[in-house]
Amino acid sequence: MLTRDDRRDKPIGVFDSGVGGLSVWREIVRLMPNESVIYLADQARVPYGDRTKGEVERFTHDSVAWLLSQDVKLVVIACNTASAAALTSLRQRWPETPIVGMEPAVKPASQRTRTGHVGVLATPGTLRAERFSSLVERFANGVHVHTVMGTGLVKMVEQNKLGGPEVEARLRAILAPVLEANIDHLVLGCTHFPFLAASLRRVLGDGVQLVDPAPAVARQTQRVLAREGLQRALSEPGLWRFVTTGELAHFQRAVTRLVAAELATLGRPTLFQSIDID
Ligand code: DGL
Repeated sequence: MLTRDDRRDKPIGVFDSGVGGLSVWREIVRLMPNESVIYLADQARVPYGDRTKGEVERFTHDSVAWLLSQDVKLVVIACNTASAAALTSLRQRWPETPIVGMEPAVKPASQRTRTGHVGVLATPGTLRAERFSSLVERFANGVHVHTVMGTGLVKMVEQNKLGGPEVEARLRAILAPVLEANIDHLVLGCTHFPFLAASLRRVLGDGVQLVDPAPAVARQTQRVLAREGLQRALSEPGLWRFVTTGELAHFQRAVTRLVAAELATLGRPTLFQSIDID
């Protein structure tokens, strides 16, 4: 059996249905550059957003089981849809493992709004979940929360389409109703969407702030590691592994593009791999 001291140097596991969770991964490695991290993308089954809760729950359990087979010390569910469907049952199944989840940042947006209207852009799975209604009930505090289903956007990011006329036209069509509603904050309730930030800003204009919960998730991960005595003790940099259930070359190209800045500036030993988990 490993002692707590041995466990400290094990990797953090980060999971998403695809490449979206890299928007959380990059905040984690900026904050904790020496940690080893295994990033798992279930690209064979992405997108999760239109699937049933049962399916998303099963896929997420498979993925977390695989990460645990790689001996991770903590798991981050870097996916709103998977967190909404599976966080409770994951924590019941693996009570010994710290699991950090995420939810749309309704609370900070509702605290900061001046117009009293905020938008939440997320997948159908996230918006239909009971977790989301309860979030709005607890934290909206009289603010109008306008939900927008980001239909087709996850696929675009997976196909490396982050900007240009097709992407902007799609965003304009999806966001037209909330723009009319006088929102001043748009919550990015899906981890794929920060990669569309430049296009979103062009479509929304200067009057709307984007709210991305990824930095807060990274800080929470750091707090949990500290609380559990699991922060890496070794001083040399850890290994970054990027793993997909999909096609390796496509994945490697996407990772290299989406987190080019972190790969270049922090430059850790990096490994790409494709696996089968279903
Ligand atoms: N990144 C996932 C999320 O945060 C995308 C879900 C999907 O695969 O549709 O919701």
